[in-house]
Amino acid sequence: MKKKWWKEAVVYQIYPKSFQDSNGDGIGDIRGIINRLDYLENLGVNVLWLCPVFKSPMDDNGYDISDYYHVDPMFGTDEDLDELIEEAGKRGIKLLMDLVINHTSDEHEWFQAALKDKHSKYRDYYVFREGIEDGPPNNWRSYFGGSAWEKVGDDSNTYYLHAFSKKQPDLNWENEEVREELYKMVNYWLEKGLGGFRIDAILNIKKKIESGRFEPDGEDGYVFIGNWILNQPGIGEWLNELNERTFKLHNSMTVAEANVPDYLLPKYIGDGNGYFSMVFDFAHSDIDVPETGEWYKQYNWTVPELRDALFNCQLVTQKAGWGATYFENHDHPRSINKYIPEDYISKTSKKMLGTLFMFLQGTPFVYQGQELGMTNIPMDSIEDYDDIATHDQYNRALLSGFSEEKALEGMFRRSRDNSRTPMQWDASKNGGFSKADTTWLKVNPNYKEINAAEEEDNDQSVLAFYQELISMRRKGKYKETIVYGEFVPDNASEGNVIAYQRQLDDEKILIVVNFDNQLAEVNVSPLFSEVVMNNYEDVKLEKGGRVTLRPYESLVLANF
Ligand code: GLC
Ligand code: CA
Repeated sequence: MKKKWWKEAVVYQIYPKSFQDSNGDGIGDIRGIINRLDYLENLGVNVLWLCPVFKSPMDDNGYDISDYYHVDPMFGTDEDLDELIEEAGKRGIKLLMDLVINHTSDEHEWFQAALKDKHSKYRDYYVFREGIEDGPPNNWRSYFGGSAWEKVGDDSNTYYLHAFSKKQPDLNWENEEVREELYKMVNYWLEKGLGGFRIDAILNIKKKIESGRFEPDGEDGYVFIGNWILNQPGIGEWLNELNERTFKLHNSMTVAEANVPDYLLPKYIGDGNGYFSMVFDFAHSDIDVPETGEWYKQYNWTVPELRDALFNCQLVTQKAGWGATYFENHDHPRSINKYIPEDYISKTSKKMLGTLFMFLQGTPFVYQGQELGMTNIPMDSIEDYDDIATHDQYNRALLSGFSEEKALEGMFRRSRDNSRTPMQWDASKNGGFSKADTTWLKVNPNYKEINAAEEEDNDQSVLAFYQELISMRRKGKYKETIVYGEFVPDNASEGNVIAYQRQLDDEKILIVVNFDNQLAEVNVSPLFSEVVMNNYEDVKLEKGGRVTLRPYESLVLANF
């Protein structure tokens, strides 16, 4: 297997609005991130992925970009960003920016020009179509609910396409000039010394536009848009071109938000010749939502299903190339709430999840606050939520007959705002995130118990555990095996136990976790006699290998 710097990296994802506010306006900013670089260095990560900080009306929190070349004043100045790149660089930390090129904001000057004059060349930068039967060209549902088409002006019959919110018009990638503009922009940023990009919603760029009324798949009369715009034939040419013209020239690290079918994976992440360095898989992270994407309806998954999802992804990914692993990001609730029943949320179960995650094959992405064991936030009413998708899901829940209370329960379980609440730094006002009276999103009331300062002083904390996990992976004695070793399912995987090995030449590491609140007995090969890590203070390992795992116990063993 080819060695690469980004295979050996541990990435930390920052949600800039909620990381650290430096000027007291209740919103996180770039200066705030600079001020916290020491924390990140101590944690041991060496790549930061920054969610979008470009100019934006913030309809979808920065995923609606109105100017690709400048920082939004909310986050600071262009110089602040240069300084962040430089200061991070001094600590051996590289930066990934978020690349949102499926759509722009409707306030981007291209779109404004396209609206103003239908003969302008910018009209063809987007997707405009004539409506049919007094309505939009078809009944596609946007990912955020409602029609994916928005009418232009009042007296026309013309619509533009928006796969996400109506303030996020889709770009027309068929137009070569659009692609050239995007490549120019990507290179501009890479020349500034970025490590690379996380690439947003990229499977949507190729569209198969069809007019008509299709069989609805929901109470709202709409149909899932992905059938026509996800991973359509021909998309590979553009992804290849994007790579050849930009990323490849800079030896960049690229991670695409792309749930690619197994058989296509080699094209996307093939060692040395994929479109991207790695992609995120969705199977384990969407395990709790029904296929229709209505996440207010809970799907009751089982641990064996989760194990299958993880193992299958590991096995196909290592065959195809390289993967990106994550248990949390800004589009998901906190992992502890997703995977562990409320009554069993504890430091032990948090450490168990950390163990299961950090030894998988692929570059790990830790999301801000995950390393502290931050949890979902209970909100009093739907008004407390900021996220556009949450409001949509809430309304759909009501439409399909949920009571307000039941709908709100769904939001507590699944809203994206659960992970977007401000970072909990210490026990002072607003968890040390901001000096403002009100923050843009509520601070989780549990900040007095769960915060970085408290955990830094406690060697049994979740933070201390993550520090150890990261350090093992980046510079521990088993580093080579943890990074480059083969992923192999282990026979101890039974019932609610998840067990796998990592193997490199003669070195073998066994990871075994009890994903349950009951005792579990498992057979462990006597080869594994060294305890590398565990989440209970005392571990008794009897030779011969019959081991009783306590509730949510995790063990990492080596054969030396
Ligand atoms: C991606 C982002 C998400 C955003 C969407 C539209 O899924 O992760 O936060 O809402 O794209 O840009
Ligand atoms: Ca601020």
